[in-house]
Amino acid sequence: MKVLGICGSPRKQATHHVLNEALQMLDEKGFETEFYSLRGKNISPCRHCDYCMKHKECVVDDDMQDIYPLITEAEGIIMATPVYNGGLSAQLKAVMDRCRALGARDFDFLRYKVGMAIAVGGDRIGGQELAIQQIMTFFILTGAIPVSGGAYGANMGANFWSKDTLEGVKQDEEGFKSLRKTVKRFSNFIENFEIKK
Ligand SMILES: Cc1cc2nc3c(=O)[nH]c(=O)nc-3n(C[C@H](O)[C@H](O)[C@H](O)COP(=O)(O)O)c2cc1C
Repeated sequence: MKVLGICGSPRKQATHHVLNEALQMLDEKGFETEFYSLRGKNISPCRHCDYCMKHKECVVDDDMQDIYPLITEAEGIIMATPVYNGGLSAQLKAVMDRCRALGARDFDFLRYKVGMAIAVGGDRIGGQELAIQQIMTFFILTGAIPVSGGAYGANMGANFWSKDTLEGVKQDEEGFKSLRKTVKRFSNFIENFEIKK
């Protein structure tokens, strides 16, 4: 069972670290994982040219072409974002919008895949929940199954306070509690759906 983790930060810092930790937890549970960082990648926003509606592929030849097959092949998707201005990063949003081309080819391209979100803010209350909600909304409207870790620690998913540093995020015990709970539920959902399919 494959899990794709997309890191929406342009840096190899806090978000990269926590997504890596999440994928390691899944490796230990026997999942095949792939880490895809948007750092240094050339992924332009959707042009809404509607080329994909006619030709079932995106006309823009950039790094998004590498992500399309990874999304298609994965059973589970983790989207991790730094909090920028109270929401998700523009880098991650561009990936979501460019998925229009996958939807043009197969309306159900994410249906029954399981999705979880990680948000890392410099402030303790900096917009993590809204950033997660934006990722959850993407999962809902594409037919994926959005999961959190549940009440008592991971209500919305994995939620971190970095204090703007890598060291800061490493010290965020509550954040790691929310990550462990969310990864546990995420992996259970994928396994249960695989058994029923
Ligand atoms: C353009 C920009 C906007 C930001 N806006 C917020 C914000 O609204 N709330 C917040 O908590 N942190 C904000 N931050 C801080 C980052 O979320 C924080 O430093 C985070 O750890 C960055 O993740 P990274 O280390 O993976 O790059 C912002 C940072 C940048 C560059």
